Amino acid sequence: MRGAVVAIDGPAGAGKSTAARRLAHRLGYVLIDTGALYRAVALVAKERGIDWDDAEALGQLARTIELRFSPAPSEGGRPPLLVDGADRSDAIRAPDISEGASRVSAHPPVRAALLGVQRAMGAQGGCVLEGRDIGTVVFPDADVKVFLTASLDARADRRFEELVDAGAEVDRDSVMVEMARRDARDAGRDTAPLRPAADAVPLDTTALDLDGVVERLVEIVREAGFSAR
Ligand code: DC
Repeated sequence: MRGAVVAIDGPAGAGKSTAARRLAHRLGYVLIDTGALYRAVALVAKERGIDWDDAEALGQLARTIELRFSPAPSEGGRPPLLVDGADRSDAIRAPDISEGASRVSAHPPVRAALLGVQRAMGAQGGCVLEGRDIGTVVFPDADVKVFLTASLDARADRRFEELVDAGAEVDRDSVMVEMARRDARDAGRDTAPLRPAADAVPLDTTALDLDGVVERLVEIVREAGFSAR
């Protein structure tokens, strides 16, 4: 049987990336972190002196850089992102690139360029895609759609802990303010805004730990008639 296309959407800090990675590992599926693609556009734009508000130049950039994930290095690890052949996995995680990714992702020419990339990556099925518009725009016919949410407080706590663990010196309140601003921009844009697909299963992770989230995701995939490879 063909593997499913699993779409996981939701705001920053809802637990998408870790949960999606663990789910993909459990199912033997490929993980496609679509936010990494927008992050790559923001990173390369910054390096080349292209303004994050210059829609046309960013679209041209997104159409010409080569974006590819190489297989995950370790069990359940994050698949490295290759930009024009070079591993940029660490550079795309810088806090200013989070802001840049949210800015560049609002421009229709950027979204149009990355749409084809994402569809090609998921065309074979057997994949978990995580992002903001996977179930609504990229794969509106996905076999399984989940919309992950959590309270702003819980999401800010998680992101704060992640940053502290990574050695960053940050203030918890600014993390929360920045997160709220990014969500408002992602949900308020005209093209492919962050919102649940009508047929997505909502999953509020506020009171769940990671294992609980992953178990529930596995169950949702099973209920849709798919199983591990
Ligand atoms: O998931 P992330 O934090 O890596 O995403 C970075 C930004 O990219 C996010 O603020 C909005 C944008 N994004 C998007 O618009 N559509 C997606 N499918 C994934 C991410």
